[in-house]
Amino acid sequence: MGAASRTRRTLVTGAVGIAVLVAPAVAVGVPGGGPRFVAGASGAGDPYFPYSGNGGYDVQSYDLDLTYTPPAAAPAPLTGQLDGVATIRLEATQDLARFNLDLRGLDASRVTIDGKTAKEIAPPADGTEVDGRKFWQVQEDADREWELVIQPRPKIKAGRTVTVVVHYGGPTTRPTDIEGVLYGWVTTRDGAMVVNEPDGAMTWYPVSDHPTDKAAYRFEITVPEGKVAVANGLPAREPRTEDGWTTWWWDAPDQQASYLSTASVGDYDLRRTETASGLPIIDAVDDALTPGNLAVTNASLALQPEMIEFLEMFGPYPFNSFGSIVDDDTVGYALETQTRPVYSRVARESTVMHELAHQWFGNAVSPFRWADIWLNEGWATYATWIWAEDQGDGTAQEAFDEVMAIPADDPFWTTVVADPGPFGLFLGPIYDRGAATLFALRQKIGAAAFLEGAQQWVVRYSDGTASTADFQTLMEEVSGQDLEQFFDVWVRTGEKPTTW
Ligand code: TRP
Ligand code: ZN
Repeated sequence: MGAASRTRRTLVTGAVGIAVLVAPAVAVGVPGGGPRFVAGASGAGDPYFPYSGNGGYDVQSYDLDLTYTPPAAAPAPLTGQLDGVATIRLEATQDLARFNLDLRGLDASRVTIDGKTAKEIAPPADGTEVDGRKFWQVQEDADREWELVIQPRPKIKAGRTVTVVVHYGGPTTRPTDIEGVLYGWVTTRDGAMVVNEPDGAMTWYPVSDHPTDKAAYRFEITVPEGKVAVANGLPAREPRTEDGWTTWWWDAPDQQASYLSTASVGDYDLRRTETASGLPIIDAVDDALTPGNLAVTNASLALQPEMIEFLEMFGPYPFNSFGSIVDDDTVGYALETQTRPVYSRVARESTVMHELAHQWFGNAVSPFRWADIWLNEGWATYATWIWAEDQGDGTAQEAFDEVMAIPADDPFWTTVVADPGPFGLFLGPIYDRGAATLFALRQKIGAAAFLEGAQQWVVRYSDGTASTADFQTLMEEVSGQDLEQFFDVWVRTGEKPTTW
């Protein structure tokens, strides 16, 4: 471990960066047949985040061995130190001469592929191939393009699985997304609050940072003795303390999108319980919550087993455990990190229901493109409507009516819910018009077809991703209705729906 002090990121001009990085996504056949090894694409093909994810391979698993030193003492600048060894198993989906991993703000010091060490070099200015096993890092801030470019030798034939080990590290900060909102490895007074939606995983490990490349995760996190590190899934073994450092092991074997990974560190009170059916619940509650926030949080977390049972109307809870991480710091929102949502300062009942519903809608079934985000937020919001109704706290009809009471000339209606643009992912309409869409759909096709469609959605697309078009197709199948006009009016038009 121990990141070298010299910078390994190289600032490349836009034109050169594009020449280097934008490569054909598919291997091109040579006349006469035979393989031709080319570079994997530098993005997964998502127009909102062109450099998120990568082409040419499919990650099977990430083993993240992290050592983290939180900031020395407040009110010193919130800077920690993160050193990592990422072991990534990936399968080539084309003949690969080169491939990228996304890595932002941290320096890779060493890369091995199946045990063979690759040397770091400067990016080749003209984009030509350099012989030998090499890697380099490219940063192009204007395009939010951060890539670790790896040139394996021997080249990797399509269908082969290799183990890539990246040693990396550096000081941690408080990164922000394109809207300026905190995300990624957010350094806090007492640790780190780690929430990556949509492309913040690259701020703490080398990754194919797009939901279309799900993988299994394992974590080994070493922190100063007394700190608690909480990640996705279940503890793989008891924490071990040696020489003032404690190591925590977590195992998340279920397919997981990178934006749903977490490895939060803090002064957490760790609580373990289980549901009546034996699902482990592990909560990590910051010991510095205000008494008021702690009381609200405790009341909400006590409802988790009952909430899980309620949502199982959509199918069995999809993962190996659940629970919450409640930090005393704030990123301004909560995130549905897989099996273990992260909350800012307090976990309110409706927010806990929202993040829990995401385990089915968003996590088991993830957006194919970030434009499909309404399928996450619409469902999670809709779940809070029906939970409130179940609890005798207002009806879903009332919640729907409240949305429909927004005047037609209000800018709320101008968002095209199924294509809000990269700066519109978390706008109010994505949540509220999204939920209203589902409510209206249930009215249109009937409760039975709607429930059947919701259940089939999870059955059909679990462990993968799905799009708005997939959703419409499935709902048409279960209802026997043509829903083209319905979805046009509700999610593909920037106007208030009047008839549908
Ligand atoms: N997806 C999160 C949720 O609904 C919210 C979220 C993630 C968010 N990133 C954000 C909200 C940025 C506002 C701004 O639970
Ligand atoms: Zn949400």
